[in-house]
Amino acid sequence: MRQPLVAGNWKMNGSRAGIAELLSGLKAGIGQVTAAEVAVCAPAIYISDVQQQLEGSAFKWGGQDVSVHTSGAYTGEIAGPMLRDFGCHFVIVGHSERRAYHAESDELVAQKFAAAWAAGLVPILCLGETLDEREQGATESVVARQLDAVIAQCGIDTVGEGVIAYEPVWAIGTGRTASLDQAQQVHAFIRGRLAQSNQSVADGLRILYGGSMNPKNAADLLAQPDIDGGLIGGASLKSDDFLAVCAAASD
Ligand code: PGA
Repeated sequence: MRQPLVAGNWKMNGSRAGIAELLSGLKAGIGQVTAAEVAVCAPAIYISDVQQQLEGSAFKWGGQDVSVHTSGAYTGEIAGPMLRDFGCHFVIVGHSERRAYHAESDELVAQKFAAAWAAGLVPILCLGETLDEREQGATESVVARQLDAVIAQCGIDTVGEGVIAYEPVWAIGTGRTASLDQAQQVHAFIRGRLAQSNQSVADGLRILYGGSMNPKNAADLLAQPDIDGGLIGGASLKSDDFLAVCAAASD
């Protein structure tokens, strides 16, 4: 039985005051316990505020990116041990926006996964095809290539310590959600691919869906057999919406 996980990805949104308000809404709404694991991934500069407000609540928190290095002359980067220092549990690696705007290769993403794991973080590995790739029928080969790079770098057992998020790029922030069949099909494909390396890792690993998931469509998506939670962008910026998705995952 895989415990559902709902993780918010705030991306580069919010202000210190706005985030304080969002956090108090989240804390008030969630109480101490949910059946689902719940988390928010904040802009790095606000993580200390997040830690102060969420410590002792049901929420965990995390970063949105991590350096492959542990320290040194890497201006602007944030190391895994630094995220741990502020109580981060998770970190997103290989988000499509990092792949697209920062030219992150499959190999670099795999190194980030390894660095996150070595620092004691749980990496949330994002995989997903662009619209062009889907239209060319390349969805499975793209997702397999992205996943295989991490298995090759880290080994299947370490991959099993993380979380996977399938995020079709064309569904991110567009209001255009993958259909239940489209999402389930790719999730099952990813699980099958993992099973080729290790069946028990495949059975235990949580595969989240991300891409315009919201309070209206969450329950149906989460009812799919291979969808184990969500990575939520836009709908994580309003406490009521995010709590509604958390509640759908806890049912
Ligand atoms: P979205 O973003 O929910 O706004 O589509 C999801 C994500 O990019 O993680």
